[in-house]
Amino acid sequence: MPAPAIKSLKGLREAEARCTRCPLYADATQAVPGEGPLRARLMLVGEQPGDQEDKQGHPFVGPAGRLLDQAIAGAGLDRSEVLVTNAVKHFKHELRGKRRLHKRPNTYEIDRCKWWLDLELVIVRPRGIVALGATAARSLFGRPVPVEKSRRRQLALADGTPVFVTQHPSAMLRIEDRAERRARFRQFTGDLRHAARHLSP
Ligand code: URA
Repeated sequence: MPAPAIKSLKGLREAEARCTRCPLYADATQAVPGEGPLRARLMLVGEQPGDQEDKQGHPFVGPAGRLLDQAIAGAGLDRSEVLVTNAVKHFKHELRGKRRLHKRPNTYEIDRCKWWLDLELVIVRPRGIVALGATAARSLFGRPVPVEKSRRRQLALADGTPVFVTQHPSAMLRIEDRAERRARFRQFTGDLRHAARHLSP
């Protein structure tokens, strides 16, 4: 099927809000679109909205988002200059009592949602992309990409757009040891700085 004629982020947002391309829309509050300037040089791609993002309708506004914001600032960037989005636009979760526990999207869901990410890439045309974790990398390349081995290696999409693969910020939230968490955070910030430096002017 040809891609729909969507030419603006607003049009994309409206179309995503009506998405039924996979079953995830049924249990989510809303689709969470990407956010940032139309002419962002750098696009950061996460996995999927979490509980807070699902409720608020904005990407990376929960605990992982706070870490991401710190790392963006530590890398010398400003969140308002980057486009922050997700590989999957609806929150996948399971209910445990009253809690909604995050569930990883499967390859079918990732591939169905790639439709939206592709449109976002065509509209924004970023100079570089950061894949935050395995789901984002899987979506962008259409195949599994080993996150640790790919760090600081410049990969590229078929059209030549550079892709920098790093961990997902949630991975740091799960580390209990403070020193280890700090080291991982420094590494993560360094990965973002590396990506920013390698963008063509
Ligand atoms: N994790 C993500 O991958 N995306 C969000 O928007 C929030 C948490």
